[in-house]
Amino acid sequence: MIRVLLAALLLFTATPSLAEIAIEFASGDPADRGALVVGAFKGAELMPAAEALDRRTSGHIGRALEKDGFTGGPQAIATLTAPPGTDLDRAVIAGLGEPGAKSSFEIEEMAGRVMNAVLTSGSKRVTFAIDGEDLEGISGAEMAARIALGAKLASYRFHKYLQPGAGDRITVERITVMTDDVDAAEARYARLKGLADGVFLARDLVSEPANVIYPQSFVDRVRAAFANDDDISIDVLDEDDMLNRKMGALLGVGQGSQNPPRLLVVTYRGARRGDPLLAFVGKGVTFDTGGISIKGSDRMWRMKFDMAGAAAAIGVIKALADRKARVNAVGVAALVENMPSAKAQRPGDVVLTMSGKTIEVINTDAEGRLILADAVWYTQSELEPAVLIDLATLTGSVRRALGNGYAGLFANDDQLAQQLMAAGERAGEPLWLLPLDSTHNKEISSNIADIKNTGDTGGAGASIGAAVIGSFIRPGQSWAHLDIANMAWRDSGQATVPSGASGFGVRLLNQWVEDNYEKR
Ligand code: BES
Ligand code: ZN
Ligand code: MN
Repeated sequence: MIRVLLAALLLFTATPSLAEIAIEFASGDPADRGALVVGAFKGAELMPAAEALDRRTSGHIGRALEKDGFTGGPQAIATLTAPPGTDLDRAVIAGLGEPGAKSSFEIEEMAGRVMNAVLTSGSKRVTFAIDGEDLEGISGAEMAARIALGAKLASYRFHKYLQPGAGDRITVERITVMTDDVDAAEARYARLKGLADGVFLARDLVSEPANVIYPQSFVDRVRAAFANDDDISIDVLDEDDMLNRKMGALLGVGQGSQNPPRLLVVTYRGARRGDPLLAFVGKGVTFDTGGISIKGSDRMWRMKFDMAGAAAAIGVIKALADRKARVNAVGVAALVENMPSAKAQRPGDVVLTMSGKTIEVINTDAEGRLILADAVWYTQSELEPAVLIDLATLTGSVRRALGNGYAGLFANDDQLAQQLMAAGERAGEPLWLLPLDSTHNKEISSNIADIKNTGDTGGAGASIGAAVIGSFIRPGQSWAHLDIANMAWRDSGQATVPSGASGFGVRLLNQWVEDNYEKR
């Protein structure tokens, strides 16, 4: 009770998040105030709005870029303070690389880089004057909407527990994107904004500390986030529901904690009843101490992020619902806290899963695969999805294999794997296909149960984790497993992903749905 009160107190004293940065579209001449953003190609070749600014400043822009050694390459950005002949705080010249076609993602990245340069610069207003009509392969409206999306994604901060005015002080209050087609840009952005909402929901859930987000409060947060979405229904399984279904693996992980587990099911129906159901199943360990196989205390605080798979599974449903995608999809979050206590499960315990298979718990720190065993079985047997994709911060091994450039992908369906890799490339959340075959299944054979939850040390950790989950996938079920342990938390920020919780998976899966299930 006291714990709950203290958590409530923390929430009560938390400063309300900063007023959202307003984003608008406009045509005509850009305002002569704040920061003005213009574009240049490789070789510092100025785009039309940049040329106009250069003329107004009597050639100052061109001269400054030359002194700066500005290349116009896709990473290049130059900032000139108080350009003469204007009332601007600053001009920002964004490099776009070669003049050819630009992808939506490249545009988002460019806008994100610009925002990182101006967010705390002192300017209150930012005006983007880079016209898509001057580029190939992207319409003016799409360009403007992608600029807005990239700028929004880059502006995310989690500052609610700071004193007002502390932290990096964001000065930007309003972003204006210039376009000849204001109506079309607004309509396009109204949908893309849903994607940002999904990413932000995931980032918020992951950023919150584990005294604030535990299984039930995760559920409460998600209910609040979907309060205004039609076409959404929410079901929650409590411990009794789990007992009735014999979900002994999920219950076993949760039994050491004061905070009981939950299975959260968020269903979005945007298509007809008979249309395929897409299922996203997330590991939602709200804190992973390791249990009795306890982790070292060095950087253990990071294990508040161990519900990032669940956050992404729910975040993508938020995105689909907000932009009213014409698909049916369900997000399933297996929520549990992995704690050591007198009641905790022990190494060597055998648990009975909902599928009827038993698992020997060799290591209580390999808990993600245990909870997913029951969650994927529940999803298949009660929801019957056409495709099941699970997301989990499953292993340290995936970082050792892939660093932090790609999440690990495992699949029993080549076409699904190809679709996911293509979507990841397009959305800037890339995946690398890792092996899953009978050798990994051999490593988890147990002497006293149907399987065990870890292999021997020195084995292929990420593949073995995938093999445990795969043991609970029914024959014929199209399935992929994303090990996002190396991607869900970023130590340094990127163009559209500030440091900290990344929301990894939401953009990828939203893109996968769009590319493969929304073409009508
Ligand atoms: N949540 C962790 C995975 C993890 C570890 C993520 C380090 C980020 C950084 C997971 O539950 C875990 O503890 N995995 C173990 C499995 C092992 C005991 C077989 C691991 O990867 O070390
Ligand atoms: Zn874990
Ligand atoms: Mn663990």
